[in-house]
Amino acid sequence: MKVIVAEHAGFCFGVTKAVETVYEQINTDNSGKIYTYGPIIHNETVVSDLEKKGVKVIESAKDLENLVSQDGEAADGTIVIRSHGVTRQVQAAIEKTGLKVIDATCPFVKRIHKVVDSESLAGKHIIVVGSAKHPEVEGIVSYANGPVHVIENPEEARNFNENRELEYTIVAQTTFNRKKFQETVEIFENNGYNINVVNTICNATDERQTEAEDIARRADVMIVIGGASSSNSRKLYEICSKECDNTYFIQTLDDLHLDLHEDVKIVGITAGASTPKNIIEEVQNYVRTNF
Ligand code: F3S
Repeated sequence: MKVIVAEHAGFCFGVTKAVETVYEQINTDNSGKIYTYGPIIHNETVVSDLEKKGVKVIESAKDLENLVSQDGEAADGTIVIRSHGVTRQVQAAIEKTGLKVIDATCPFVKRIHKVVDSESLAGKHIIVVGSAKHPEVEGIVSYANGPVHVIENPEEARNFNENRELEYTIVAQTTFNRKKFQETVEIFENNGYNINVVNTICNATDERQTEAEDIARRADVMIVIGGASSSNSRKLYEICSKECDNTYFIQTLDDLHLDLHEDVKIVGITAGASTPKNIIEEVQNYVRTNF
């Protein structure tokens, strides 16, 4: 039996940078109390390790207000903004606290903020293709200075009925599925909308998805490792399930209950952007040594 582990599995560049930033702050003497706005990544193991080291997760703008004392005295400590960024309003609220701010927003996400900001200032209506409730998309939407629409899937694009005389700029959530994005763009074009397309899907996602699809096509069993609330991991699972009927979605090795038949020749393994290397290694070692 052959085990194929995707080369583009696990932490992407943006997540690596964000996680390393927090660990660096822990080891920096003058950081004070360390906070992250939302969990730094969608991975419980990493987040609980950071918690043990004293890092506190701030969940909402209300939590930020509570950091400032009643007489308005600034909070003491450091806050790290995670890789998928925050809304303009949250950014302002963070700055108001007086905490030292370290912005680990991925440069690819920052680029979308800039595109949305400048295109909307130029009078374009913005269309963001992605999950409306995802914090990255909420952040992107907040940078629009005028009308903005979120389209979650091609179906919503088909039902989109707005003024066709206007100019639109389309961007995508960095982790959106490339094929679905193309399909969505074509629907707008075929329906007569004047659109300027800025493909903001990040390469890390593209490479990861293409490679996962290719391995899943060849594999008899496919294992996708990722956090339950990680949207890029769920998308990987979706892509792999289409190609391989025996696709498993696990968070850690504990979730894996494999029962491999003798005719299984290839087991493929991939992982979402928030999966640490050691978990991928544990899973591949287990499969290699037990089957
Ligand atoms: Fe950045 Fe792409 Fe990762 S946008 S956070 S490198 S998935």
